Amino acid sequence: MIALHPSLRYNLTNMSRPSTIAIDGPVAVGKSTIGRMLAQRLGYRYVDTGMMYRALTWKAIRLNIDLEDEERLSRLAESTSIDLAPLDKVLVDGDDITSGIRDPDVERGVSLVAKVAGVREALVEQQQALAQGGKIVMAGRDIGTTVLPHSELKVYLCASFEERARRRYLELVERGEAADYQAVLTDLKRRDEIDSERAVSPLQPAQDARLVDTDGLNVEQVLVEILGILGEG
Ligand code: DC
Repeated sequence: MIALHPSLRYNLTNMSRPSTIAIDGPVAVGKSTIGRMLAQRLGYRYVDTGMMYRALTWKAIRLNIDLEDEERLSRLAESTSIDLAPLDKVLVDGDDITSGIRDPDVERGVSLVAKVAGVREALVEQQQALAQGGKIVMAGRDIGTTVLPHSELKVYLCASFEERARRRYLELVERGEAADYQAVLTDLKRRDEIDSERAVSPLQPAQDARLVDTDGLNVEQVLVEILGILGEG
């Protein structure tokens, strides 16, 4: 495990736990697994904002909306109700669409939808409302930079392309889905590129984020490192 210099620990002298924790990072870096475990450990709510972009993409595809049509997508975002319910259920306009959230067409289209300014505006507003009550761990790409810029703890997870592709590949195999490592790697690079190069809220660490390199670490080790930052190691 990496030993943290005392100055890197979250300052607990005058404060209690942070009310919100932002976890950002690229595709398949382990944000959801780590975020969920951290939230459970702290008794916080976990919100995976990627699910909201996926839910909207799911609806746009079902409505045959061209994923390049920014205006329609923005209007759709404003008029769609997305709920992240307990047990990882995702509801769109009240309907449970959880089983479709990782469909290949959603997987392919979501970074196009997520780069639309009007879509981001509508979803960021909802995400900020969710965080109002505090006690929340929120994961995404722009949580530390845009959604919760005043969050007391921002973690940016990173790992090499190969490590992330390997993890995603094993995840697919475990789920019994047909998987090809090279295809997973290529898709991951494509999505990273779109997420990092978009004009609005591109994927990047907040200036005050703690970078955690997860290469060669298992989930428990990453969790221990974050708890160490919190002074709860
Ligand atoms: O984390 P994920 O793979 O479920 O995210 C799906 C897509 O949504 C991905 O292309 C990045 C985008 N996204 C985003 O732009 N901002 C967020 N806060 C969360 C996800």
